[in-house]
Amino acid sequence: MKIMEAADYKSMSRQAANIISAQVILNPKSVLGLATGSTPIGVYQQLIDWYRKGDIDFSSVHTFNLDEYCGLSPDHPQSYHYYMHENFFGQVNIPQQNIHIPDGLTSDITSECAAYDKRIVLMGGIDLQLLGLGNTGHIGFNEPNESFDKMTHPVALKDETIAANSRFFGRPEDVPRYAVTMGIKSIMQAKKILLVVSGEGKAEILEKALFGPVLPLVPASILQMHPDVTVVADREALSLIRLHGLI
Ligand code: F6R
Repeated sequence: MKIMEAADYKSMSRQAANIISAQVILNPKSVLGLATGSTPIGVYQQLIDWYRKGDIDFSSVHTFNLDEYCGLSPDHPQSYHYYMHENFFGQVNIPQQNIHIPDGLTSDITSECAAYDKRIVLMGGIDLQLLGLGNTGHIGFNEPNESFDKMTHPVALKDETIAANSRFFGRPEDVPRYAVTMGIKSIMQAKKILLVVSGEGKAEILEKALFGPVLPLVPASILQMHPDVTVVADREALSLIRLHGLI
């Protein structure tokens, strides 16, 4: 595991965007796994900026998003379809047919999940998976104590995640209770993983994830077992790891 320390959020975003950009330049047909949430917004902004300057071309890239809420239509402002369109896809040249996001509106969730996994396999697997880290240690929507052995599947969100995400919805009761997510097994099958983490609020969970025991209680701890993980985190997020002399 490689840990890159950035001075602040902007620099974290730029460093992570550089890794994605290098991936796409070296292999224009890259299959990217993408995340939503507040952390990667700066990464997407940086990539959009380089795209506008002509430095990067996404026309042959394929993407698979990690997750989506159940029950929100793609035009709901809090759906991950909407987020991705607003923050990235709507501003770069990834062909619509190359974009894959789990369908949270399906009436047959089992078939949707199996079809999603199959599409990833047909594309040759994910070359680079971008991840954020949840306050509970979740990656995607794989909450504490979820099995490490699952591919894409439906999940019930933990109260803590509903509370954390209610900042986007206004009221906790408006946050969907269910979501569909790539599983830990799907994430671990990505060839490379890029984890972005920012802020003091993530310092404790980041230390547990990177240096604690590998346990389903801390889903992100499984990343210690992946052969090619880069963590790009800002100074605040790495503060406890540094304090304890682990880097
Ligand atoms: C989003 C996702 C989540 C977030 C995590 C951190 O697609 O899969 O695991 O990465 O909840 O969210 P932020 O970045 O908002 O702290």
